[in-house]
Amino acid sequence: MKEQLLATKEKAKEALAGAGSLAELEDIRIALLGKKGELTAVLRGMGALSAEERPVIGQLANEVRSFIEGGIEEKKASLASAAREAKLKEERLDVTMKGRMPVLGKKHPLNIVLDEVKDIFVGMGFSIAEGPEVEYDYYNFEALNIPKDHPARDTQDTFYINDNVVLRSQTSSVQIRVMENQKPPIRVIAPGRVYRSDAVDATHSPVFHQIEGLVVDKGITMGDLKGTLETFMKTLYGNDAVLRFRPHHFPFTEPSAEVDVSCFVCGGKGCRVCKGEGFIELLGAGMVHPKVLERCGIDTSVYSGFAFGLGLERIVMRRMNIDDMRLLYENDLRFLNQF
Ligand code: PHE
Repeated sequence: MKEQLLATKEKAKEALAGAGSLAELEDIRIALLGKKGELTAVLRGMGALSAEERPVIGQLANEVRSFIEGGIEEKKASLASAAREAKLKEERLDVTMKGRMPVLGKKHPLNIVLDEVKDIFVGMGFSIAEGPEVEYDYYNFEALNIPKDHPARDTQDTFYINDNVVLRSQTSSVQIRVMENQKPPIRVIAPGRVYRSDAVDATHSPVFHQIEGLVVDKGITMGDLKGTLETFMKTLYGNDAVLRFRPHHFPFTEPSAEVDVSCFVCGGKGCRVCKGEGFIELLGAGMVHPKVLERCGIDTSVYSGFAFGLGLERIVMRRMNIDDMRLLYENDLRFLNQF
């Protein structure tokens, strides 16, 4: 019997060493300690032992039982910790691993240049004004000295919401809104979208952008207009840029001028880009018409002002060598990613 018990113990040792799961451990427990288990069978035969043998074998049997029970518990614990280890390993987070970078958007070329323009004017003490794109006929035309039958309406044909409301054809409407709400001294630029019923081609779009400028103060002259525009152009295009003022007509400025800048390609000699002119037309400008000032309640015996309006697309195209305006609106990333 003693041999049997020792053999059971050996068997238990081996089985436990080889057990790889909780289920296997349970099988071992049942095979050895269960009701029909090996050890139980041995103990059942105890009755046949002599009175001297019984306690000796009994003690040995108990030892074997507690050896097996202890072994099972120990194995259970080591299996559990191995399982936990494996799980931790599997779920480990490598915080040093490179992440997936979100794709960053970029500034649109129109905004790149607009920000530059804003910086230049803010540097000269201007602030930024805004007005609605859906505008009253009054602000877009009437208050700018363009009554209903004025021919200037033909060149700025726009989209009518109704008889009194249009999509603004020029940012000059913001001049009126600013003068109605602010007392001189006034120094603002008003960038924004404008609309005209033009067909789309390489240099036209029914939607484009202008930047309006307005200064009203005591003693403002054409000299201030020239100085301001010159500072602006030289900052934008470099110190070699030369401005040229040509007499022109706008209903809301008097006198009026169109302003050209020396060709950025040939520097004024004349080339293909400037069509031999040496200069490129850039903007409209002039001294604010007294009628316009007075309509806004500004005393023209005290104050005078100048205004200008430039097309943002034109500056951007020149600046970035873009030869087709449509590229600016098509949202083709292959184009936009170049800037
Ligand atoms: N609003 C004019 C245009 O769109 C430009 C302009 C602005 C002219 C301000 C003079 C003064 O053509």
